[in-house]
Amino acid sequence: MLHKISAILFDENKIQRRVSDLAAQISKDYEDNDLVIIAVLKGSFVFLADLCRCFTIPIEIDFIAISSYGDSAVSSGKVTVKKDIDIDIKGKHVLIVEDIVDTGISLQYLCDHLLSRMPASIKSCTLLDKCMKHEADIKIDYKGFDIDDEFVVGYGLDYAEQFRNLPYIGILKEEFYK
Ligand code: IMP
Ligand code: MG
Repeated sequence: MLHKISAILFDENKIQRRVSDLAAQISKDYEDNDLVIIAVLKGSFVFLADLCRCFTIPIEIDFIAISSYGDSAVSSGKVTVKKDIDIDIKGKHVLIVEDIVDTGISLQYLCDHLLSRMPASIKSCTLLDKCMKHEADIKIDYKGFDIDDEFVVGYGLDYAEQFRNLPYIGILKEEFYK
């Protein structure tokens, strides 16, 4: 598996430091408000597990699964909900937790989808952001790292369901997805 990775972008220590800073900021911003975390499956599961254990405020957690990639490295641009949330978010403060934002089409779709349930507010948090690739008009409220236009895997992120268990975030060699 390791021969498919061209470089380690963020190692475990760097990720943990950034995740605990993000959790501290979010805990401060929501200290007076009840917060519902909606994590986007599957890629955010490792990030969520680390982030939520650093929170110093009470939170509820739910999951949503969407699909726009299939086994491709390029977004199809068409988003569908594969598993919806179970919690009633009406009147509650919602934070969407994503692994990575690329075109932003998924995040925009999720915001619209969840806004129809009339939450008190919606903000977004992503570990990684390919900011120069945004196509949708989205606002990211909390961000771990900006990255260039490279396909990355590990720490929950996959290519064709592989690599999610790597403890670091690495760049997948082009020859394995092009
Ligand atoms: P967007 O709708 O184009 O912003 O796509 C966001 C989703 O695409 C993320 O939640 C990931 O599931 C997936 N994705 C985008 N870039 C990468 C990458 O470099 N590695 C792994 N998954 C990615
Ligand atoms: Mg994702």
